Amino acid sequence: MAIYEIKGGTPLQGEVTISGAKNAAVAILPAAVLVSGKCRVENVPDISDVHILLDILKDIGAEITEEAPGTFVLDCTNITSTQPKPELVCQMRASYYLMGALLSRFGKAHVALPGGCNFASRPIDQHIKGFRALGAKVEETEDYVNLTTDENGLCGRRVSLDVVSVGATVNIILAATLAPGQTVIENAAKEPHIVDLANFLNTMGARISGAGTDTIKVRGVEQLHGGSYAIIPDQIEAGTYLAAVAAAGGNVLVKNVIPKHMECITSKLQEMGVKINDYDDAIRIRSDGRLHGTTVKTSPYPGFPTDMQAQICVCMAVAEGVSRLTENVYETRFFGYCTELQEMGADILINGKTALVTGRESLHGADVSAHDLRAGAALIIAGLAATGTTLLRNVHFVERGYEHIVEKLTALGASISRLEE
Ligand code: EPU
Repeated sequence: MAIYEIKGGTPLQGEVTISGAKNAAVAILPAAVLVSGKCRVENVPDISDVHILLDILKDIGAEITEEAPGTFVLDCTNITSTQPKPELVCQMRASYYLMGALLSRFGKAHVALPGGCNFASRPIDQHIKGFRALGAKVEETEDYVNLTTDENGLCGRRVSLDVVSVGATVNIILAATLAPGQTVIENAAKEPHIVDLANFLNTMGARISGAGTDTIKVRGVEQLHGGSYAIIPDQIEAGTYLAAVAAAGGNVLVKNVIPKHMECITSKLQEMGVKINDYDDAIRIRSDGRLHGTTVKTSPYPGFPTDMQAQICVCMAVAEGVSRLTENVYETRFFGYCTELQEMGADILINGKTALVTGRESLHGADVSAHDLRAGAALIIAGLAATGTTLLRNVHFVERGYEHIVEKLTALGASISRLEE
């Protein structure tokens, strides 16, 4: 088992380049199943969730070559199986996008229930509602979802989501792409990775409009063709480095970002006292590590992302005064990291979906464990801002979603090493 050893107290300096967006990549790679022909995808992050997805796709018959680091050519023309291996599927969350993709292309799919970060109950009833609305017959067991269609196949319909769900929006877009007629998704998610998926599919010949708004229209096409596409930069990875500089102090140019996607995060960090300068595709952040408390409420895009909740909590833990952090997407997400942060000296009081965080002058190093991806990222930030040495265990969670994080932080002057126990 690998662990990270972090010696805190050094401000971060220099430049960091943000990788392709995890949550876009894990939607776009399964979407390649819909394409007859070769699609070339650039800016694919080198993270374990992507490696698992590529293994799943190869196993069902996709031909995949890595043209250059982060650039893959996928040819899914000859996919033979609609039953991806359950032992791979259950290792990650986004494997459930194979349901929508296989259903759309083959009219059937038999997919195990997904795994992934387990910080809350993560139902898929809205995905199922969408598949049923488009005409699929859905059988659910404790472990599997079995999707079939009758001789008429799928057909475009109106689907109104009961909750704003990224996963359900992606899965319904995938299912609708090759379904005759028009599908209208109402109350759709608006995250940048939804827009990226739609742009990818449109590049390959799909007819999707409205992505980035709460009404997405998909006019089904007979087939998609090959093409080339580059994934957008990762909003949350960028936000994580910004939060690290805010908490540990320093002066860093965060390169390869879309500043517009970052506004919900940078505006909060500015409220906390850091200096931000936006450029066309970069953001400079300067912080002396002395932050003011603030109020944050998570919500779907363009609100403050739940995937930044843990990282901003660390900033609050070292900020002057009392901060209020309310989680509106996954109520139980605090439990993945607050106990660990408390072991490092943080003063956090959780009451239902709100945490009251009373800032401390500093945190201290401790022996802690990551319980999910963003919790792990937050504990790294805490370790960087703390005095003394932090040992972070279960780093496989972090490596699910952060490309080369040890190397990137080391290049910024942090003292962080990956050790094998
Ligand atoms: N929900 C339902 N029913 C559904 C689907 C969702 O009730 O069928 C509820 C969830 O319980 C939650 C809310 O709707 O309260 C939003 O869930 P959503 O479906 O948007 O989450 P997801 O698609 O499972 C994606 C990201 C998560 C991120 C959330 C919210 C991927 C692969 N995962 O998950 O990312 O937290 O959206 O933005 O895109 C991460 O990157 O660390 C991560 C967990």
